[in-house]
Amino acid sequence: MNPANPLTLQAVIFDLDGVITDTAEFHYLAWKKVADEEGLPFDRAINEKLRGVSRRESLLIILDGRSLPEVTLQAMMTRKNAYYQQMLHQISPADLLPGVADLLDELDAAGIPYAIASASRNAAFVVQRLGIADRLGVLADGRSVDDPKPAPDLFRFAAAQLNVPPGGCLVVEDAAAGVQAGQTAGMMTLALGPADRFADLPAIANRRDSLENVTLADLRAMTAVDPQWVVTQPTFDPAAQHHMETVFTLGNGYFSTRGAFEEGYPGDKAITFAHGVFDDMPVSFTELVNMPDWLDTTIWVDGASFRLDQGQVLHFYRQMDLRQGILRRDVRWQAPSGAIVDLTFERFASYAAEHVGALRMLVTAVNQPCHIALHTGINGHVANEDLLHWRLLDQGADQNTAWLHSRTRKTGIEMGTAVAVTHSGGAYCLAQDCPGQPRLRLEQMLNAGQSLQADKLISYAASRDNEPDAPNVVARAQTYLQNQTYDGLRAAHVAAWRQVWQVSDVIIEGDPEAQLALRFNLFQLFAAAPQHDERVSIGAKTLSGYGYRGHVFWDTEIFILPFFSYTQPHIARNMLLYRYHTLAGARRKAARNGYAGAQYAWESAVTGDEVTPTWVPHFTDPTRLVRVWTGDIQIHISADVAYAIRQYWRITGDDAFMRDYGAEMILDTARFWGSRVEREEVDGRLAYTIRDVIGPDEYHDHVDNNSYTNYIARWHLQTALAVRDWLRQAYPDKAAALEQALDLTGDVYRHWQEVMDHLVFLRDEETAVIEQFEGFFQRRRLDPELFASAAQSLQVILGIEGANESQVLKQADVIMLLCLFRDQFDQRTWQANWDAYMPITDHKYGSSLGPSFHAWAACEMQRPDEAYEHFMLAARADLRNPRGNAGDGIHAASAGGVWQALVFGFAGLRQEQGTFTLKPQLPQHWQRIAFNFRYRGAEKRVDIRRDAGGKVIARID
Ligand code: BGC
Repeated sequence: MNPANPLTLQAVIFDLDGVITDTAEFHYLAWKKVADEEGLPFDRAINEKLRGVSRRESLLIILDGRSLPEVTLQAMMTRKNAYYQQMLHQISPADLLPGVADLLDELDAAGIPYAIASASRNAAFVVQRLGIADRLGVLADGRSVDDPKPAPDLFRFAAAQLNVPPGGCLVVEDAAAGVQAGQTAGMMTLALGPADRFADLPAIANRRDSLENVTLADLRAMTAVDPQWVVTQPTFDPAAQHHMETVFTLGNGYFSTRGAFEEGYPGDKAITFAHGVFDDMPVSFTELVNMPDWLDTTIWVDGASFRLDQGQVLHFYRQMDLRQGILRRDVRWQAPSGAIVDLTFERFASYAAEHVGALRMLVTAVNQPCHIALHTGINGHVANEDLLHWRLLDQGADQNTAWLHSRTRKTGIEMGTAVAVTHSGGAYCLAQDCPGQPRLRLEQMLNAGQSLQADKLISYAASRDNEPDAPNVVARAQTYLQNQTYDGLRAAHVAAWRQVWQVSDVIIEGDPEAQLALRFNLFQLFAAAPQHDERVSIGAKTLSGYGYRGHVFWDTEIFILPFFSYTQPHIARNMLLYRYHTLAGARRKAARNGYAGAQYAWESAVTGDEVTPTWVPHFTDPTRLVRVWTGDIQIHISADVAYAIRQYWRITGDDAFMRDYGAEMILDTARFWGSRVEREEVDGRLAYTIRDVIGPDEYHDHVDNNSYTNYIARWHLQTALAVRDWLRQAYPDKAAALEQALDLTGDVYRHWQEVMDHLVFLRDEETAVIEQFEGFFQRRRLDPELFASAAQSLQVILGIEGANESQVLKQADVIMLLCLFRDQFDQRTWQANWDAYMPITDHKYGSSLGPSFHAWAACEMQRPDEAYEHFMLAARADLRNPRGNAGDGIHAASAGGVWQALVFGFAGLRQEQGTFTLKPQLPQHWQRIAFNFRYRGAEKRVDIRRDAGGKVIARID
């Protein structure tokens, strides 16, 4: 058994013709002779079309539509082959193509086995004439397998015979069909020949004109997994199961699937969520519903079901290629019968066809014949942990397709799930119609080296989709799969991701870990970013786990949205329109609380009504309940939404959005503030206060005059007046209608002005410290040692009340404020508050929302290396799981904050009087950062690098 290190090139599989030797030339000469004898035109240009094509096909191409009797065709093919075989006798070792002999010597010296895999029936003879027969690990030829390239069988056969996992093999091929076969086989590929020959293949990772001057070092370099784009898992550790399921989440903005295994594993959290598919639940009111499981697969090898906790796992490797959005797993597994199989699973949630997912499974018998039964379909028996949300309505299956019709119990959302399976020739496929779990059954007896391939396509159609003309969800789901193939979908999917990254990628040079982590965070935001639906938004855990039940928080507007506003404004627009469509819920909330206007829910789902649970079990003592106050009094969210709208408008210039939706949201939430503030006399002077709130720092509740809240509320009122002015001027009719509809009278505006003039803001003129809320600095000071030594959250250590009474922060609060309004605070204020709050913040175990903003703030303080520590804490929130809760789902706010830390912090991008400027702060080991953004339709490119002398050069084009 070879070492299971996936990053090592373990074997090379060469095609013969055109790679090792040029029998292609003999084919050409033999055809040329026949063609000349028959008076048919034939030259090298026509010959190009024969590459990788069967003998009969070749002849038909040469005949170019001329029709001849079958006997004549046969005679010509026989003659061609006779000429060809005569020519083969001339082959000698001198006919190895340039570079081949040296490369084989290098492979021998390094102990890397290699094989020839050629469809040619003359391969053995040719290899012998070339004098390399004894050096080959394996010779696989046209006799070895039934299905020719582009089926993967020949290469899988060679790998099995070499006893090397397919993922460790490099296929060297000169024909497009061969490269495709290598890709399907789950192998790395090197294409030889001119680029246009492979133009129809979507993703050619490596191409050379020939093997001339190609060394083993080159092969190693081209097969190494790109550590800046690929997340890898080289071994399976059951203890990290849930964490890794979160990490390997794939999604396309319509649905998203955690990285659970196709065949299941005890205790797994196999979840697929689709946007907007909520159903009622106790305590948290509503939750995203775990969708019918599209992975649903059982594989029996000689009657024993394949699972990682059974049989023997000889090799495991998983990777997610962020550039392509493709998840892949390789397992070599031994069944109790002694049969060893290589299994490759590759899947994606199509970024180009958002209702569709695709899964390719390959099972290869390695050491002995074995019986494979593969059952795959749709599992409708899914629950959210133990809560059932689906009623199963109907189902069906035939030879190659299956479908399920289900409906959520309380919200009545209908779901059609369809599946279509194609498979390699030998297997036969039968429908299996267990109630709630329609499946297809493939069975095949495999000889050693033989493969079973199943390509499974699935689709979801929901009644909540905006498809009024196609109310039958099952029929619609089936249409999504019509005329689709795995390879076709894959090509479109990869192309769609390429487009995404072209605009939204961010480059960090000098730090591969930071580079990968940053891309991972952005990737996970895209996995949940609604491309086409304006009635949904990204929840605090994206679509990747049960955490927060799919609810949307301020995380979206303040942390996540800027990335989209700056790079993919159509997605930001959808997410802001979600707030527009939930205004009715926000109005209900305000009214219920006795306020005017609209008050956004702290936790929001479909309708915008408040869905924060009121009570939850205590985190250390589940016999007690804890009252959750955020849904009642964490009110800054309404201004956070306004902030995001204003920012989107500034960056995109989308006046139509502001006119039709944005203004209404900003003005109606401003009305809320106008009624929420309290008019008081403080020290004999008029003051407006906002009492009994929770600010961003949730370790303290029921506080008065939280500075973040008061400041952003005042900004909100000011912005509302400015938007009103703009609307009146640009669209007077619209302004009049809106002011009337929202009852915005002169009195209301005068009141807002008075509030703005008198709203309490606790900045101490002498020290420049902004007190987080009234009396914060009277609370108990903690021993600094406690912050350094804590191995869990300080709220757990001190207790809820203990933290509440102390000067300890869960997350940035005043520091957030400074960042969001950075140019409104002078250096003295920055310094004073940095000194006041950073040492008393629970950086490691407090909120995951803190570190990204702390990184940004540290850049403002010109402390790039300190910023780096905070940045990496945020960037690693899911990949490394420092808080131990990544299994609950992606830390979406942190992911968005990471982008802001880089762009606003390290790059120092800011807009001053209409022009963008940079104030870079690069950590010492970073050589370069670069990213794009869009400003009012124009593409901008930022590139910041160190020159040879270490000086930082920043450009913005
Ligand atoms: C944080 C909030 C955040 C929520 C959802 C809480 O732990 O304190 O700021 O909105 O998680 O991510």
